[in-house]
Amino acid sequence: MRLKDRIAIVTGGGSGIGEAVAVRFAEEGARVAVLDVDVKGAELTATLCGGLAVVADVSDSAQVDAAVARVERELGPVDILVNNAGIAGRRNSERLAEKLAAQAAERGTGRIVTGLDALVRLPDDEWRQMFAVHVDGTFYCSRAVARSMKDRGTGAIVNVASICGVEGCTGHPHYSAAKGAVLAFSRALAKELVVQGIRVNAITPGFIETPATSVLTDAQRAGLELTTPIGRLGRPEEIAATVAFLASDDASFSVGSTFAVNGGLLTA
Ligand code: NAI
Repeated sequence: MRLKDRIAIVTGGGSGIGEAVAVRFAEEGARVAVLDVDVKGAELTATLCGGLAVVADVSDSAQVDAAVARVERELGPVDILVNNAGIAGRRNSERLAEKLAAQAAERGTGRIVTGLDALVRLPDDEWRQMFAVHVDGTFYCSRAVARSMKDRGTGAIVNVASICGVEGCTGHPHYSAAKGAVLAFSRALAKELVVQGIRVNAITPGFIETPATSVLTDAQRAGLELTTPIGRLGRPEEIAATVAFLASDDASFSVGSTFAVNGGLLTA
């Protein structure tokens, strides 16, 4: 019950990691607002965690401001924000599938001749959408909750980035760039806001079993299991446990950190 009576907003709470975070927070005593652009997902998770479903698109600042105002009205001032809403870039992944299979066949031959052409085939709208959801969304939500957090001198923000934001993931330049921006943003915020009682930290999950990764082919999944030292993908509950720690007073000296939760895939 480390989060007893805390008011939390979990963006992207309608699925996968966000759902697990919302449930874990409720188990630890928090009252949770499940913010998601997907009505059904938000309502389902809200039922699971006894929370409030709030439908909003994090990439729209007016919707975010209205959503946060509603949470403050109905639940109270926000103590915890988890910026988790995200997209994987499905159209890009679909375009890559054939080229990745060709590269896989060439591995071990001493020469990979197939280029992925991810960059040159990436349209403007997919680039912008990736930044709108991850970077704009994290900015809008953080700004909206920080206004009252700073006046009350307390708060915790946890940003869900990715190993791709540290390492750079082949074939996903827009996702990698957006997650890298989230990490840099987190560090700057952390240094600014800690004097006002707000702690900001980020996590970098590896590959986690969620609807977002359910599109992986068996061969891709086997490849990830092989390259992840622990030998498997992670579970959303394992991410939720780390987020709960960072959101709680147990992490009172963690400021601007990047927590790796990736089964050993990236240890530096
Ligand atoms: P998911 O697809 O299961 O859930 C994402 C949720 O975000 C969905 O409910 C979706 O409706 C919501 N969402 C998307 N765009 C939104 C918007 N504009 N406004 C509000 N809500 C929006 O994905 P998953 O796997 O649970 O991912 C959660 C976060 O973790 C994402 O930020 C993702 O990039 C990150 N992540 C996931 C990894 C994985 O292997 N699953 C690995 C590393 C990071």
